[in-house]
Amino acid sequence: MKILVTGCQGQLGRELCRQFEVRNRRRQEFHVVATDVDTLDITDAQQVKNVVEREKPDVIINTAAYTKVDACETDEQTAFRVNAHGARNLAVAAYNIGAKILQVSTDYVFDGTGRTPLREYDPVNPLSVYGKSKALGEQLVMTTNPRYFIVRTAWLYGDGANFIRTILKLASEKEELKVVNDQVGTPTSTVDLAKCILALIQTDYYGIYHGTCEGECTWYDFARRILVVKGIKKRVIPISTKELNLPAKRPAYSVLENFMLKLVGLNTFRNWEEAMTEYLTREGHQ
Ligand SMILES: NC(=O)c1ccc[n+]([C@@H]2O[C@H](COP(=O)([O-])OP(=O)(O)OC[C@H]3O[C@@H](n4cnc5c(N)ncnc54)[C@H](OP(=O)(O)O)[C@@H]3O)[C@@H](O)[C@H]2O)c1
Repeated sequence: MKILVTGCQGQLGRELCRQFEVRNRRRQEFHVVATDVDTLDITDAQQVKNVVEREKPDVIINTAAYTKVDACETDEQTAFRVNAHGARNLAVAAYNIGAKILQVSTDYVFDGTGRTPLREYDPVNPLSVYGKSKALGEQLVMTTNPRYFIVRTAWLYGDGANFIRTILKLASEKEELKVVNDQVGTPTSTVDLAKCILALIQTDYYGIYHGTCEGECTWYDFARRILVVKGIKKRVIPISTKELNLPAKRPAYSVLENFMLKLVGLNTFRNWEEAMTEYLTREGHQ
């Protein structure tokens, strides 16, 4: 199976490439074409067409995105160009050669006003430019290529800039940390997500999927747990979203239920605390 992956310098792209490599060590199953913006800028429709027609992958996995949620508020153009138009370019190019497309999306497509885990059929209502651009990306992929997988994930961490690294850095610099305690979600390891993506692309179970670790917590709970696992004693003060006053609105409750993955028997996500503990104790990750 030939797979073209975008955004390979990002957290998820790196982990996917690592897992493909591990699988290939046992048995040469996957031919991976790893790209990032320097080799394949997904906003360039002509370049996307040329690369896809040259490589002829069976599947395109799009992990590339403009993920700076607050910067998106003031740079709408880039947000929509990358997250919506870029996704469309890949879906169309995949369609033209009969390939599947897997688009990674986000819990920020929801407004988070509810109090029960969100399922794939729940209506989207993004609050931020980032969320809107990702929601449009989903729509464009679904309407241009019927062989699509949309995988919505949340609070992702892996090899790259993420909340865990930020907390550990702040803990080494500051006397006390202030962390938001009124947003609920699920921290998700790129290890679990990449494993799920690998399984999905080998099926024809097209559709929308929620793919997050199990359980839920606030950013405050998440920060405290990180410090406990690392044995760092530091005061953590819970604050409200209002006090933090960031440019982009975030959903208050965006816990996703992996409802469709459970239905098709492919839900292998671990509890968030288990996955996070492994991440923190794995050598070389921090
Ligand atoms: N991180 C999260 O908490 C989170 C939560 C929910 C969903 N997601 C989604 O999960 C996916 C993976 O996220 P991630 O955390 O791995 O993202 P990431 O670490 O920010 O990686 C994204 C990669 O895409 C690249 N990129 C940006 N613009 C591009 C373009 N025009 N063409 C090609 N590549 C481009 C980036 O390069 P530069 O760094 O040079 O810009 C970066 O290497 C994304 O779809 C994201 O929306 C993430």
